[in-house]
Amino acid sequence: MLPNSFLEQLKDSSPIEGVVSSYVELKPIGGSKQIGLCPFHAEKSPSFVVYSSTQSFYCFGCRTGGDVISFIKKIENLDYMGALKVLANRAGIAIPAVEQTDSSNLNAAILRANKEAAKFFHETLKKTDRAMDYLQRERGIRPEIIKKFGLGFSPESWDALGQHLRNLGFSTKELLESKLLAKGKNNSVYDVFRNRIMFPIMNSRFEVIAFGGRVLNEGQPKYLNSYDSPVFKKSNSLFNINLAKNNLAKNNKQIILVEGYLDVISVVQAGFENVVATLGVALTTNQAKLLSVYADVVILAYDSDKAGQAATLKAIDILEIAGIDVKVLDLSGCKDPDEYIKKRGAIRFKDAIFSSVAALDFKLNKLKSEFDVDTTSGKASFLKAATELLSNVQSKISREVYLSKICSELNVDKQAIASHVGNLIKTRIKKGVQKEQKDIRRNLTAKSQIGQSQAKVPVNCIKSEELIIRSLYGNPDLFEMLKANCPPEIFVSPNKEIYVLLLDRLEKGLQLHISCITEKGSATLARLSEILAQNFDLQLDRNGILECVETLQKQKRKKEAADILKMNAEELRKYMNDISNYKKC
Ligand code: CTP
Ligand code: MN
Repeated sequence: MLPNSFLEQLKDSSPIEGVVSSYVELKPIGGSKQIGLCPFHAEKSPSFVVYSSTQSFYCFGCRTGGDVISFIKKIENLDYMGALKVLANRAGIAIPAVEQTDSSNLNAAILRANKEAAKFFHETLKKTDRAMDYLQRERGIRPEIIKKFGLGFSPESWDALGQHLRNLGFSTKELLESKLLAKGKNNSVYDVFRNRIMFPIMNSRFEVIAFGGRVLNEGQPKYLNSYDSPVFKKSNSLFNINLAKNNLAKNNKQIILVEGYLDVISVVQAGFENVVATLGVALTTNQAKLLSVYADVVILAYDSDKAGQAATLKAIDILEIAGIDVKVLDLSGCKDPDEYIKKRGAIRFKDAIFSSVAALDFKLNKLKSEFDVDTTSGKASFLKAATELLSNVQSKISREVYLSKICSELNVDKQAIASHVGNLIKTRIKKGVQKEQKDIRRNLTAKSQIGQSQAKVPVNCIKSEELIIRSLYGNPDLFEMLKANCPPEIFVSPNKEIYVLLLDRLEKGLQLHISCITEKGSATLARLSEILAQNFDLQLDRNGILECVETLQKQKRKKEAADILKMNAEELRKYMNDISNYKKC
């Protein structure tokens, strides 16, 4: 455990609004609240609120909430200690030497095992002619590039890697957790990667977090990727982010996004290190966020097949929501960037980068190719789809420019089309407002976290509990009064756990800062931040609280009466007994 004094100091020097604003653009909305676009889900209008006075955050869209530490954990994909390190670094505070927790020990061991495995695969590659031949002759990869990526080969053996790593002192548990080994029948363990070209996947700190393995020539599955482990989450990672982030031009921060490992390698070999790939799955919001940390512009160079083009459309939306400018590179007939570079060379590829078009141009071109604009009906259908697209464009200037372009190309009157776009925008705004109001109504009570089992509990009881918690959190001086008048037993929902926790801390003379409430786990923390967010402006005074207490007590009496009616003779006798004993003491 870290000393309390350190945590207090860290907390004081890491105000949530300051920390969050290095990831999210926040706008003050009064009452010590700030709002921005939620980094944890895709949204176009802000519903992510940061509360300075309670030091918590909450998103009314995806219902994610917590404190400054859980924010860092989530956005940087770190464990608790990792998040503390980030905050301490940021604040310039030294972390006191403490015993490493089990989980950070395990993570460190996995990272070391991965590094040793990468070395082992690399050495094996050098000794295996058929694998070297494949990379150099068939794929045209130069030796220095093989070295740069630390490419490797996994031998055709069920236990060569396992044995090697155990000899180096790693335990079977660590190797299973690293996903380098897997469990077979009768508790046997075996190497996951066999007879494959190995691509080490690194995080932005150059630590090997996972591997991709490709079959030599034909075979199934073509690629095998490490399963998620304590140090690797496929949906949060990008191949080559380590090199890419260090090779951005100062005034032109752009990253090329491709589909495959071998596309990345070819593009780097052609002289452009600012390239990354997703790992065989569609681009996620988290990956887009990771990209937005480093890049202002992403150039999409997905495969030219149908799947690749569909993925391009999806990726455009996800990247734009993350605040990134998107361009699309035209592979003009080649299957993927790898093939393009092989066929046409690095210089032509550089030209293609330069002439990549804005996402909107790409979308409009694609639309145009789907309709026969030489016919009247084709033209009309195209215009309908195109105006729909344009009505989503935020900048009025861009809208104007594109409108003029389309209209002159199709030889139609711009005025009529422009007013149609205007109408589409108005309808959309109206719908957005309606949805927002609906969301607010739905969110009046923090019931999402309460669960199904509580469905029968009256909403006013849950609301009363929330108000008591909110008020006590905001004004710990209410402690004595609540202790005397509001025993935890009268709580009807799992909010009780939070209430007990707060009372307990106050009893011990401790602070109620939200970051101190991590011991009960993240679900409790999330619920507390939700309660604070949804009742932010509803802090009650003594009398208001007593009303809430009365509501809860009434409910308890009602429930007791109902329970008594259900009792048999024996249970009733016991109940009466209990009451008279209770009265005596
Ligand atoms: N992929 C995967 N699992 C598969 C197939 C593909 O995880 N069974 C992922 C890999 O990350 C791969 C990417 O999807 O790099 C693109 O797949 P593909 O185009 O088939 O592979 P390339 O990397 O282009 O390899 P090659 O040039 O040898 O076809
Ligand atoms: Mn490919």
